[in-house]
Amino acid sequence: MDSIIANKDLAPQGQLKIRWVREHMPVLNKVREELMSSRIFAGKKVAICLHLEAKTAYLAQVLHDAGADVAITGSNPLSTQDDVAAALAQEGVTVFAKHGCCDEEYFHLVRRTAQTEPDVLIDDGGDLVHILHTELTTLLPRITGGCEETTTGIIRLRAMDRDKELAFPMVAVNDAFCKHLFDNRYGTGQSTWDGIMRTTNLVVAGKTVVVAGYGWCGKGVAMRAKGLGGNVVVTEIDPIKAIEARMDGFRVMSMAEAAKIGDIFVTVTGCKDVIRREHFAVMRDGGVLCNAGHFDVEVSKRDLQNMAASVTSVRDNIVEYRLEDGRRLYLLGEGRLVNLACADGHPAEIMDMTFALQALSLQYLLQNPGKVPAVYSVPEEIDHKVAHLKLAAEGINIDALTEDQAKYLQSWKV
Ligand code: NAI
Repeated sequence: MDSIIANKDLAPQGQLKIRWVREHMPVLNKVREELMSSRIFAGKKVAICLHLEAKTAYLAQVLHDAGADVAITGSNPLSTQDDVAAALAQEGVTVFAKHGCCDEEYFHLVRRTAQTEPDVLIDDGGDLVHILHTELTTLLPRITGGCEETTTGIIRLRAMDRDKELAFPMVAVNDAFCKHLFDNRYGTGQSTWDGIMRTTNLVVAGKTVVVAGYGWCGKGVAMRAKGLGGNVVVTEIDPIKAIEARMDGFRVMSMAEAAKIGDIFVTVTGCKDVIRREHFAVMRDGGVLCNAGHFDVEVSKRDLQNMAASVTSVRDNIVEYRLEDGRRLYLLGEGRLVNLACADGHPAEIMDMTFALQALSLQYLLQNPGKVPAVYSVPEEIDHKVAHLKLAAEGINIDALTEDQAKYLQSWKV
C-alpha cells in the first residue's frame, strides 16, 4: 500500500536518526533477534499509532523484520518527524503521517491506518481504538488484541470496558513497572526540560516552576526542575499525592495561588482546563506555559485566545498571547506534549524498555488468541524479562535468592 508522507527525499536524514537510536536500544535489539527466529509475526498485520519519531520507527522496523506487515501513523500531528516517516516508508513499512497536519487530516491518517485491517495493534492515547470502535466496526472481529502506551489511553479503555463497548483485549503497557517507573518518570522528566530549554533558550535556575500533577510524569518533571535550580511548586487534586510532593521537598498550593508566582508552568495531569481564565488573569508578565500531558486540553487555549488582544508567533514553537493590560504569556508547542512537539521525546535508553514491552506484549497476544475483551496487565514474566535484559545490557549483576532464603521468605515460622 502507498504511504502518505510529507516528503520522501527526507529519508537519508531520517535513516541517520533511526540508526542512532538503534545503537542505544540493546533490549529491543535482543527482542528483535528472538522475534525474528520465532516467526510469530510472519504474515500478521500490525497497525501502530504512536508518536512517530526515531525510536518508534525502530519499533516498527523490528516488527517488520520479524515478518509483520506494519502500517503506522503518528499519535499527534506535532510529534511526527517527516524525515523519520520518509525513512520508514523506504524500509517497507506503510506510513500515514505528516508533521503539523490539521485535526481533520490527522484523523484521516489514523483512519487509513485502521483500514489496513490489523490483526494486532499498538495505540497511544486511544485514537486508533476509538476510530475502529466508532467508524470501522466491521473490522473489530478480526482483531486479536492490542497494546496501549499511555495513562490517558488506559483511562479511555477502562471507560469503554465499563460500558461493555470494548471489542477486543487490550494490554495496559503503561502500567507495567518497566514502563511507568522509567518512561513516565525519568523519560518525561528529562525530555520535558529538553523541550522547554531548546525552545525558549531561557534559564531555569532561580525561576519558580509550577508543575500541575504529581503522578508518575509529574514526579519526574518536578525532580528535574529542582536539579536545574528551579524553585518548584506542585499543584494537585489528590491529597495523598499532595503530601508526597510536600515530603519530597516541594511547595504545594492551589493553582489559584501558584498562578500568581510562577515563571514556568508545566501541566501533566491527563485532565482538562488545569490552567484557565482565572489563572491567566493573575499571572506575571512573561509567564511560560506548556503541557506534557497526552492531550492539548490542559492549558486552555480557548481562554487564552479569548483573553488575548493579540496573538503572535514569536519564535519557532512559541506563541505570544498579549493580554489587554499588556502582559505577555507564552505558550510552547501549541499546548501539545512539549517533549514531543518541541523535542525528540524520551531518551532512546528509556524507550528501549517501553518498546521491548510493546513488542513482547503483542507477541503474548498472538500466542494467546481468544482472550475475552478487557484491559489486561502486562504479564509479570514480561516485565521481569525486560528488567533483566536492561540490567544485562548495562553490565549490572544482581543477587538471586538462595534456596534457603526463598524458603524463609515463604514461611511464617520463626
Ligand atoms: P498519573 O495518573 O500517574 O498522574 C496524574 C496526576 O495528575 C494525578 O496525581 C492526579 O491526581 C493529578 N491531577 C489530575 N487532575 C488534576 C488537576 N486538575 N490539577 C492538578 N493535578 C491533577 O498519570 P501520569 O502517568 O503521570 O500521566 C499524566 C499525563 O501524561 C497523561 O495524560 C499521560 O497520558 C501523559 N504522559 C505523557 C508522556 C509524555 O511523553 N509527555 C509520557 C507518559 C504519559
